[in-house]
Amino acid sequence: MKKKIIILPGDGIGKEVTTEGKRVLEKIAEIFGHQFEYDTALIGHDAIETTGSPLPDESLAKLKSCDAILFGAVGHPKYDNDPTLKVRPEQGLLKMRKELGLYANLRPIKLFDELLEASSIKPEILKGSDILFFRELTGDAYFGEKGRKDDGNTAYDMMIYQRYEVERIAHKAFQAARTRRKKVTSVDKANVLESSRLWRETVQLVGKQYPDVQLEHQFVDTAAMKLIQSPRSFDVVLTGNLFGDILTDEASQIAGSMGMLASASIGDAVGLYEPIHGSAHDITGKGIANPLASILSAALLLDISFGLKEESNGILEAVSNALRSGFRTADIADARTPKEKILNTRSMGDCIVEQLSLTHATVNH
Ligand code: IPM
Ligand code: MN
Repeated sequence: MKKKIIILPGDGIGKEVTTEGKRVLEKIAEIFGHQFEYDTALIGHDAIETTGSPLPDESLAKLKSCDAILFGAVGHPKYDNDPTLKVRPEQGLLKMRKELGLYANLRPIKLFDELLEASSIKPEILKGSDILFFRELTGDAYFGEKGRKDDGNTAYDMMIYQRYEVERIAHKAFQAARTRRKKVTSVDKANVLESSRLWRETVQLVGKQYPDVQLEHQFVDTAAMKLIQSPRSFDVVLTGNLFGDILTDEASQIAGSMGMLASASIGDAVGLYEPIHGSAHDITGKGIANPLASILSAALLLDISFGLKEESNGILEAVSNALRSGFRTADIADARTPKEKILNTRSMGDCIVEQLSLTHATVNH
């Protein structure tokens, strides 16, 4: 298979982790005889520094003409500490999502058994958890009208949804549920918000077309509690942009660490794959970031954008073998992990590439 992939490292540890994600893709191409061509583009703080824009036109043009995107992260402490700055790295990410029509963000929360002890939640509560979030990505307070009035003393961000926006992601969630445990939990705040009442009404109507899928509704505050109380009670979770942002960071603890969670953003055309973690400037340059979220994002890319199931499963298996052999990055290590098994970013990448070679050798003999 011949495909063009854009590697979009972005800021902070984004660069370090996508380097490993790309190496794993290269290994897969070598093993399975694919031709992946790579290019790279600027986004975020780096893009602002060199071009003045968080997503220059040149980057956008490249992104629109490739087959898939492996993205790292954007952000820089300079902006976090100065809310008055008008041009911000995150605007690049939001513009990219909007321009590429990436309205559905899939965030699988799957706990590798080997990491049962890495979470702060009790193992008996966690064991067997397997949740797939569908977070809406191009609407809500993120994209509603925003501004200041009264000489800057009043600020607002309009939480807004249109029916078609809810319909298209709801269909995706129900379709996915059909291939899983056939349950959709739609999360909103319909007891307070009008946009949530439109959300709920629309999801109920779409749900009628999937009578084989069980639909339940939860308010976002209840969902936040239940995720920790009984994570196994969830299958597919369908929610808006802002609630989904918050709940998936919370749910990352079910998988042990943010460093393990990959995501896929899909919609009208090209798909984008990225860890759910951010640029993590506190550990940038130390070489200790966990590359597994980027590597698992590469697995989602192969599966969803290219339909390469075997290749994708190969990566999942390599990750689980590495974990089973006791290898950990610092974020998923615990007191019992021997020092020599704590790997840095590069050596965890090596470890996965090596696992892939081993499995491949087994397949051939
Ligand atoms: C995410 C991030 C982004 C978001 C930020 C960086 C704009 O937190 O992808 O979850 O809020 O969507
Ligand atoms: Mn987030």
